[in-house]
Amino acid sequence: MARIPQETIDRIRDSADIVDVVSRHVDLKKRGRNFFGLCPFHTEKTPSFSVAPDKGIYHCFGCGNGGNAVNFIMELEKISFVEAVQQLGQQLGIEVAFSGTDESKQFFDHLYDIHATAANLYQRVLDSDRGQQAKQYLLDRGLTEETIKQFKIGFAPDNSKFLTERIKEKRYSREVLEKSGLFGFSNTDVFDRFRGRIMFPIFNASGKVIAFGGRVFGTDDPAKYMNSPETPLYHKSEVFYGLHLTRDAIRKSESAILVEGYTDLIQLYQSGIQNVVAVSGTAFTDRHVQQIRRFASKVYLAYDGDTAGINAAKRAGYALLKGGVNPKVIRIPDGLDPDDWVSQAGADIFRSKGIDQALGLLPFHLRTSNFSEMSPQEKSNLIKDILSEAAQISDPIIRQDLIKNLAQVGGVEENQVVHMFTQQMRKKRPRHTEAVPKQKKSLFTSVNAKAELGIIKVLAGDDQEARALIQSDLDINLIENDQLKTLAEMLMGTNNVKPAEIMAHFDSAEDREIVSQILIDEDDSTSPIQMAQDCLATLSKVSTKEKIKAARIKIREMEAAGQDATDLMMEVVKMQKDLRG
Ligand code: UTP
Ligand code: MN
Repeated sequence: MARIPQETIDRIRDSADIVDVVSRHVDLKKRGRNFFGLCPFHTEKTPSFSVAPDKGIYHCFGCGNGGNAVNFIMELEKISFVEAVQQLGQQLGIEVAFSGTDESKQFFDHLYDIHATAANLYQRVLDSDRGQQAKQYLLDRGLTEETIKQFKIGFAPDNSKFLTERIKEKRYSREVLEKSGLFGFSNTDVFDRFRGRIMFPIFNASGKVIAFGGRVFGTDDPAKYMNSPETPLYHKSEVFYGLHLTRDAIRKSESAILVEGYTDLIQLYQSGIQNVVAVSGTAFTDRHVQQIRRFASKVYLAYDGDTAGINAAKRAGYALLKGGVNPKVIRIPDGLDPDDWVSQAGADIFRSKGIDQALGLLPFHLRTSNFSEMSPQEKSNLIKDILSEAAQISDPIIRQDLIKNLAQVGGVEENQVVHMFTQQMRKKRPRHTEAVPKQKKSLFTSVNAKAELGIIKVLAGDDQEARALIQSDLDINLIENDQLKTLAEMLMGTNNVKPAEIMAHFDSAEDREIVSQILIDEDDSTSPIQMAQDCLATLSKVSTKEKIKAARIKIREMEAAGQDATDLMMEVVKMQKDLRG
């Protein structure tokens, strides 16, 4: 097994600034000692995701996810521990050397490697004689040399063995070849998946190539675009094409322009409009909404002006609205797509006619449906359709706003629309299925459990006197919760508590949920020494009660067996006195 030396891991964990790591992905605002933002792990409208810079940990009070910087990266990017440590190491300039070989690490390394190699080879072809026509085509479309390089655009020649032959010497395992999505297989043969195509590499958030979109060029393949399949590196419904380059611009403007095509994104980016994302090779999903809402509160949909584009924009628009993002629709002139428009008319026109005059979702929906020309029956049906979208919006303010707007834009009395809505809700109630995270029940509601928590809090805090009291007086076996017991044991033995380090001892997300919550909690209402005394007293009371209960059972058994239980009874009396005193 390949291992990163513990020392390196510790160093990376200790030097990682949790606020820095998290704020690459979440917009954080300082409140008191901690930072808060919208949780990247579940859908929420008010920030319950907190980051404690002094402790080096994060915890979401909504969904419970918690941990240190390494955990955060692992959870967010769905990568292994080793990869997360490597990534952090790279950011911090700490070299990560391995000892031994680790299969899973090697597997992912090889997948990244094969994509980097392929992208490189395709780029070289585009620059060679074989790619000359493809290159000219891209230049004719208005892309500059610089843009082509920046997006690492390449060309896969019409040859089923091009890539296959060139990566032979690397001796990747069959599994790596299969899982890369770059090859096809027959019984006896391996061949290139992408042939005769202009290749657009798709990047992950750190800018590594994880997949490709290939545009047909020079062959008569009927599929205009072919994309990598879903692979261990490429999870389509989570990836935005171009985001590694556009993230900062999106964050700065707090808005994003969503386009459908690779070329739309590239052309806008080149023109200077850089807060753009494209979904890649799939429909816009709720997963995408969750991703984008971390950076942008407003999303401009820039879809083609044809029927398919209009419908896709409506779907994406309502998905955004449900996720708490404000959708706007840019009207692209008929027959054009954003790429065509911006290259023909320029960025200024795109800004003034497109972005600045973008429609709200509702006016867009009504206008593209020809609402004003509809018969009353048709109007009523359309309103019902929109109300059924409204029914799926869980935020009451956004929902009411939509209903109110609908009345206004549709020219119907507001209370009429509200009436229709409530009627519709009544009919459809059981069908209301929304992916709202279930409210976490508190695991620590009993007096006993609360005391156990308090003990941990004191041990993890920096009040030395209170810590010392617990260290000398606590019978660790009184802690029933296994996770807390482990944690208490750990904390009892050290005087230098680093929450981020403590997190590293808990592998399961469930454990981390509890532990990060305890460690991050800021409750200054009770002094630590008071809390230590109270909790110790509660725990020992609980244990006395337990003993009394056990003794009573024993006494009954002894009496049933005709034995003398007087001594035990005396003991119970004494214990009861203790409890009261
Ligand atoms: P378009 O057909 O609008 O292509 O598909 P485009 O982006 O304008 O491409 P050019 O300008 O002709 O080169 C939009 C997006 O839909 C996906 C691709 O992601 C494409 O960029 N698509 C399209 C596919 O995945 N497969 C297809 O066959 C077509
Ligand atoms: Mn196009």
